[in-house]
Amino acid sequence: MKKTALLLTTALALMANPYESNQESYDAVVKKGQEVSSALLKTLGMNMKKHMKAGGPVDAAKFCNSEAYSLTLGVDKEYGKNVSVKRISLKNRNSANAAIGHEKSILESLETLQDSGVVLPSYVVERVNVDTYKFYKPLIINKQVCLKCHGDISKNPKLSTFFSGAYPKDKATGYKLGDLRGAIVVKIKQ
Ligand code: HEC
Repeated sequence: MKKTALLLTTALALMANPYESNQESYDAVVKKGQEVSSALLKTLGMNMKKHMKAGGPVDAAKFCNSEAYSLTLGVDKEYGKNVSVKRISLKNRNSANAAIGHEKSILESLETLQDSGVVLPSYVVERVNVDTYKFYKPLIINKQVCLKCHGDISKNPKLSTFFSGAYPKDKATGYKLGDLRGAIVVKIKQ
């Protein structure tokens, strides 16, 4: 009798898992999310490296200012109307990258996890509604180079002058190595 009750409880718990009945679509979301977020990281990373090499942080910052957003839109377009991609942050530099709605609480939760010593997962998935998901790839300040533009930028007066002109509401400074900077969000409609 006890055994039956346990089995029943387990079966109900499994049925209550929103992903259990949709394992295939969940797997497809993860696959697409990984593909699109990697494509964006590659595009931005490659261009950033090129500009850092050619003209240092100020040149690279100008590149980010004029092109990071449009390159992101370019990747967004590439994957058709059922997939969109963007970068978000709680402390955004470009106001178009501000986290909105659930995105905020998801980033806050990731910060709380990190504060509790959790090594962040490489992605989390939000089920937005019956056929739409958001795949989040956390972006960590994982390289010293990030700090040139997101750390203590007062060390570089030329750069901080550029940032205060280009982004009067810049919130994306004061980070340390290992901090959660934000996320890439890939929204996928199936
Ligand atoms: C040369 C300067 C520079 C470096 C180095 C740099 N960034 Fe940025 N970053 C920027 C600029 C400028 C923006 C705003 C781009 C825009 O206008 O869309 C930005 C925006 C972002 C955003 C989008 C959210 C927001 O605040 O608008 C994320 C996430 C981000 N950077 C993460 C990183 C990470 C992680 C690294 C290290 C791997 C890094 N950045 C290195 C200049 C830089």
